[in-house]
Amino acid sequence: MGDNMTKHKVETLEYPRILTKPPGPKGQAVVDKDKRYSSTSYIKYYPLVVSHGLGAMVEDVDGNRYIDFMAGIGVSATGYNHPEVVAAIKDAAGRFLHICGTDFYYQGMADICEKLAQVAPGPSPKRVFLTNSGTEAVEGAIKLVRNSTRRPTLVAFNGAFHGRSYGAMSLTASKTKQRATFGPMLPGIYHVPYPDPYRLGPNATDIVFEYIEKELFKRYISPSEIAAFFVEPMQGEGGYILPPDDFLPKLAESCKRHGIMLVFDEIQTGMGRTGKMWAAEHYGVEPDVVLSAKGLASGMPLGAIIAKEETMRWPSGSHGSTFGGNPVCCAAALATIEVIERDLLANTIVMGDLLKAGVEALAQKHLCIGDVRGKGLFIGVEFVKDRESKKADEALTEKIAQLAFERGLLLLSCGLNVIRLAPPLVLNRYDVEKGLEILDSVLTDLT
Ligand SMILES: Cc1ncc(COP(=O)(O)O)c(C=O)c1O
Repeated sequence: MGDNMTKHKVETLEYPRILTKPPGPKGQAVVDKDKRYSSTSYIKYYPLVVSHGLGAMVEDVDGNRYIDFMAGIGVSATGYNHPEVVAAIKDAAGRFLHICGTDFYYQGMADICEKLAQVAPGPSPKRVFLTNSGTEAVEGAIKLVRNSTRRPTLVAFNGAFHGRSYGAMSLTASKTKQRATFGPMLPGIYHVPYPDPYRLGPNATDIVFEYIEKELFKRYISPSEIAAFFVEPMQGEGGYILPPDDFLPKLAESCKRHGIMLVFDEIQTGMGRTGKMWAAEHYGVEPDVVLSAKGLASGMPLGAIIAKEETMRWPSGSHGSTFGGNPVCCAAALATIEVIERDLLANTIVMGDLLKAGVEALAQKHLCIGDVRGKGLFIGVEFVKDRESKKADEALTEKIAQLAFERGLLLLSCGLNVIRLAPPLVLNRYDVEKGLEILDSVLTDLT
């Protein structure tokens, strides 16, 4: 099926189309088996049972076709089977599947480390460590900043999501169910408010700095004991929140003053999603460490810790990974970055502006939309009970995602009451217009 699909252009397909209410009979069989045997911890947001995809279109096993506004949680940057990425994967897989980059050398690993060092934000020379996932990049970064500063303490933000392993989970403060029953967490971690302009108002930066400087630094922990601030330059799982423009430069300045490392978790915001390769570039900040994963290899498991050369000086053998930097994943990442740089950054800006303007127009008539924010194809739509109180409408948010799915549009929520629009960066004008049409119809019927 995949090979047949790649011969087609997405433009020639009829989509979205719902032939049978999902899950259809074939989908239901997969759902039933999965439910019986897979871990009970999986979420399974709605019963989408994928057969294949093309561009920003996903087809299920019963022939239903969806427009995808979620990219498998912000991952499928180049779409579901970009021919250049697939060709690079096939070529690499035909050579060798594994040798272990921690202990031996190969071209693809040297090439992707060089490429990431070159494209990372800021002029300082960089070094790169490759991982299998986002959480593992966060985990490694915790070790790196402690090693580099010889300080123990870490600071993260309310609403942050950094992953599921112990260090990353301890930095996470997104939903209590992600931490419940798993404590105790890693000690020596503090959380501070994230500057959410919709909730905290135009002085969000000042409010957060007042807390950091007058409360955190004075009452809880001396800045001289802090190894690093971990921050998502735009908050992802927490609700697709963009900080005020002055926040990250101010945080960088404060970190520098106190000898604290600044770690940008760009696992969701990186790889072109916001219309620049990194969200950091919107704010003119060079963090000490940048973390990548998700879109980096178009869905193949690869993450990266990209650090200033002066920061990444941990000794040989102090950190490693059997699989991290797998040759097939390295090849996928090199092809992905080439496609993003050549084709997708420009498309992301144009389609992102179109999509955001379309949602803003919907906000004129649907009063349940409290806020629309974003850059590129990283757009958050916040749903409220009324615009005065800004009370979160969590139930409506979930209903929107479910009904949109039944009508052929894939959405995903984040935070309590936000729908994130994070489509593949190959999205075209038709996808934007058709997706907005479905969203409009869903909002009309639900409110
Ligand atoms: C900002 C951020 N950091 C870290 C992670 C964890 O990545 P992974 O699921 O690959 O471990 C995620 C995943 O959603 C994320 O959005």
